[in-house]
Amino acid sequence: SGKFFVGGNWKCNGTKESISKLVSDLNSATLEPDVDVVVAPPFVYIDQVKNSLTDRIEIAAQNSWIGKGGAFTGEIRLLNTGCICNEVANLKIPNIQHVHFSVCSVEQLKDIGCKWVVLGHSERRHVIGEDDVFIGKKAAYALSQGLGVIACIGELLNEREEGKTNDVCFRQMKAFADAVPSWDNVVIAYEPVWAIGTGKVATPQQAQDVHVAVRDWLEKNVSTEVASKTRIIYGGSVNGSNSAELAKQEDIDGFLVGGASLKGPEFATIINSVT
Ligand code: 13P
Repeated sequence: SGKFFVGGNWKCNGTKESISKLVSDLNSATLEPDVDVVVAPPFVYIDQVKNSLTDRIEIAAQNSWIGKGGAFTGEIRLLNTGCICNEVANLKIPNIQHVHFSVCSVEQLKDIGCKWVVLGHSERRHVIGEDDVFIGKKAAYALSQGLGVIACIGELLNEREEGKTNDVCFRQMKAFADAVPSWDNVVIAYEPVWAIGTGKVATPQQAQDVHVAVRDWLEKNVSTEVASKTRIIYGGSVNGSNSAELAKQEDIDGFLVGGASLKGPEFATIINSVT
């Protein structure tokens, strides 16, 4: 459903030099025209990428601030003993242990040319400690300002082993659905945590099953139209050798690629695996 969508999440990787090489490889790659392509560089390199990368490829940020920018210095650590910023205190997020978030406002991201932001990535949920409500609020703010949201969901290995995959994904979907006013500018990325950076890709059938479940959830809880229009992309150890099989699945509408997106020719192969 919808145009095939491939995102490259560069995470916290790269230098000016390696990024310049990656950009030049992407600029010279031949890409299937009927695919939306987005890359998410680390914040500090977004400007470099925006100024050197072909307009054929859009830019995403890897995170964004929850509200309007202002007096929020650096990386903030919020302890459950108290908040150091009113804006966060006002959110009344239950059971929060700690949250780290990089301060870069949606307004600034738009100013430097971003069209998208990745939110709810498992590394922010499970390494940094962001929770469903917090992520939902960030998504709502980004959308309200006109940024597209790549909304990530996905279960941990133990959750899959306990048969809770759908429950976890639906809970994460509900948090987005409760917060966002519209799904027009949202792409859902299903990224099973056990597949991220492990080389242990989900089988095409495993991915397809969850994508169908998430689409059914949208149909029941949002609308038939949103269910059929919203792109659900897969992430987790996608590479140039497994993308074609995955792309054949009816409900896989693209990919969110980590490690393999750092290699221009391989990322191009993944983009071109659209069927
Ligand atoms: P890998 O492709 O490195 O497994 O990472 C996936 C991911 O987290 C994309 O957001």
